[in-house]
Amino acid sequence: MLVVSGDMTEDGAEPSYRILHDILAPLDIPTLFAVGNHDRRAALRTVFPDVPFNDGFAQYAVELPDRRVIVLDTLEEGQDGGAFCARRAEWLRTTLEAREDADTLIVLHHPPSCTGIDWMDIHPEDGWTERLARVIRDHRQVVALIAGHVHRPVAMAWQGRILTITTSTAPQVALDLRPIDPAHPDGRALIVDEPPGLALHRWTATGIATHFDVVDKPDTIVRFDHRHRAMIEELTRTRPSD
Ligand SMILES: [Fe+2]
Repeated sequence: MLVVSGDMTEDGAEPSYRILHDILAPLDIPTLFAVGNHDRRAALRTVFPDVPFNDGFAQYAVELPDRRVIVLDTLEEGQDGGAFCARRAEWLRTTLEAREDADTLIVLHHPPSCTGIDWMDIHPEDGWTERLARVIRDHRQVVALIAGHVHRPVAMAWQGRILTITTSTAPQVALDLRPIDPAHPDGRALIVDEPPGLALHRWTATGIATHFDVVDKPDTIVRFDHRHRAMIEELTRTRPSD
């Protein structure tokens, strides 16, 4: 599946979604959309009428034979920070209760925890992350959450689950963990020209392995040729089971 985890456009305007539509058109794989702070639900719906909505929010579950993906809507139109109101929380609780036996991956745009990049971080006092946490804590089948918004690859633990933030397909946010004082512009880098990236989540019976990659073709340093046969044989030999 392709998971587009929000901020699909800069301005949330219909023509922008049409550009995205044309870019994605050649791809023949299921695509899931989660809305971010730069998105607008009405324009998204107009251009992508197949995106499911529940109770007015772009929240939905994708049912697979032994697992599920649940997409959440953390958009509050007009503000950059995330949101997760009581109506959305109730929908999530009901949806999770319907299939407690299925390992579940949650997709949402705003990560519900702090990364240390001060100016991009959530404000825990807003309360929405605690509202989400209360639902997640009651449901052990949620194995991981994947988010966007921060424009950096980050892996975290949250409520005992894996939380990964995926690199942006746009420029990245500078890695700078110093506290920031909004009243004193200090010349620090905010946005940097690192290459666009993506995450590949390999979800198997043994768990989720997340690979962060950049959209760039690297030079090859070592190739698998006859000189490396012994090394590869050693690395891939059958290991005794535990
Ligand atoms: Fe965002």
